[in-house]
Amino acid sequence: MEPLPIGQVADRTGVAVSALRFYEQQGLIRSERTGGGQRRYPRDVLRRVAFVKIAQQVGLSLDAIRSALAGLPDDRTPTRADWTRLSASWRPLLDQRIGTLLRLRDDLDSCIGCGCLSLKACALYNPGDAAASLGDGARYLVGDERPAGAATPSGAPSDARDIDSGPGIRSP
Ligand code: FES
Repeated sequence: MEPLPIGQVADRTGVAVSALRFYEQQGLIRSERTGGGQRRYPRDVLRRVAFVKIAQQVGLSLDAIRSALAGLPDDRTPTRADWTRLSASWRPLLDQRIGTLLRLRDDLDSCIGCGCLSLKACALYNPGDAAASLGDGARYLVGDERPAGAATPSGAPSDARDIDSGPGIRSP
């Protein structure tokens, strides 16, 4: 198949020419140059760019995307088996991200272990900011277990959801 000039890649992917140049600079895609120095892309670049675009939209870092794409061959069009391998290596990262999104969706109205101690539930789930011992940020949203001294979902009183008029925190 005829290689594609950058404008056609931009049109078909919905990614700006400047972003495509950036992707190339970052090693996410590759092009050949014509005698006149213009970029020409193999058609499978459309699939790579679609992958990069969606991965970015769900908040994955360029490093994570680059490392996933590094498993694809540069010297030929990736086959289904190549993408299956990428998919398998990608799964743990996606599972982790999905878990975080589910907790963000379901647990944001209860204690997230961020150190604010601003909800009544914090006294139960994060007493004295015990979650700070796990690291910075909202420890329960990233999936950390509650530290010693904090109530766990199984140990929480059955009316725990009433504390903040929310559903309470479930196991990750
Ligand atoms: S919500 Fe911030 S520590 Fe509980």
